[in-house]
Amino acid sequence: DWTPAAFVQETVAKITAQVGDKKVVMALSGGVDSTVAAELIHKAIGQNLYCVFVDNGLLRKDEFETVLDSYKHMGLNVKGVNARELFYRELTGVSDPEKKRKIIGRLFIEVFQQESTLLKDISFLGQGTIYPDVIESVSVNGPSVTIKSHHNVGGLPEKMNMSLVEPLRFLFKDEVRRVGREIGISELFLGRHPFPGPGLAIRILGEITPDKVAMLQEADAIYIEGLREAGLYDKVWQAGTILLPVQSVGVMGDERTYEFTVALRAVTSTDGMTADWAHLPYEFLAKMSNDIINRVKGINRVVYDISSKPPATIEWE
Ligand code: XMP
Repeated sequence: DWTPAAFVQETVAKITAQVGDKKVVMALSGGVDSTVAAELIHKAIGQNLYCVFVDNGLLRKDEFETVLDSYKHMGLNVKGVNARELFYRELTGVSDPEKKRKIIGRLFIEVFQQESTLLKDISFLGQGTIYPDVIESVSVNGPSVTIKSHHNVGGLPEKMNMSLVEPLRFLFKDEVRRVGREIGISELFLGRHPFPGPGLAIRILGEITPDKVAMLQEADAIYIEGLREAGLYDKVWQAGTILLPVQSVGVMGDERTYEFTVALRAVTSTDGMTADWAHLPYEFLAKMSNDIINRVKGINRVVYDISSKPPATIEWE
């Protein structure tokens, strides 16, 4: 009979036995899996767990600072690394979605490897791999292969030649959440929507610029905050804002504007493999449209994505 309490006790003992007084390095993403995995390892070995949280410049508004702060409050030994300029530089002029993913995956590994080298005598690599990741990474075809190649720091173990510590390897997502609750991790982490590794890079269609990132972050923050205030955040599986490579005419006072369009996306799903567009109330959508257009300079049009997966995907790139 599986219980979170027994799992925690057993897992902490296992990690202690596996790692002893050696050191573990681990990348944190702000997501549920890496956070719960890190807390379990932390329970077992304390300050011998060295966490790295990379700011790739493609996170949500204020996310890097907020999440880094929470990690510190949880007692994790974590280093925040600002690599924004590097990511923006290497992404300049790149529009192809798969190229974006490859560049982001490569840079992430470079930054993480460099940070790990700065730390001396690290013997283990901690990872938040969960059971579906294990299954999906051995499946031969389908989008999961592409997803996983950038997910959960895929590709790191081969390159780093370290033994793995993967406390969640046999758990499903709901079990991870229960374990997280058991060890007192905040609902702000546990209830978070999934967020793709390449972040806002695949929600800015076409070329990425720091200005576009800033614009999208503002619009997205209004939308996500709006969902929370309306009590809708927990009712959808994932939500986000997409900056379209489309400019259109509008009016503001007696001025003609020629500005960008954002698409709002919200889906219901159980595993992300299939998804329905969420039937959000019209009044809510109307408020979001007004708030975004009035408050975000550079955006004069908001549309709502009413496509389901398949045949559409959740992300637009
Ligand atoms: P799609 O767009 O394929 O997304 O319907 C399904 C789920 O996967 C996420 N996703 C990614 N996650 N790296 C990730 O870590 C990626 O490159 C990537 N692409 C999509 C997406 O946000 C959704 O949760």
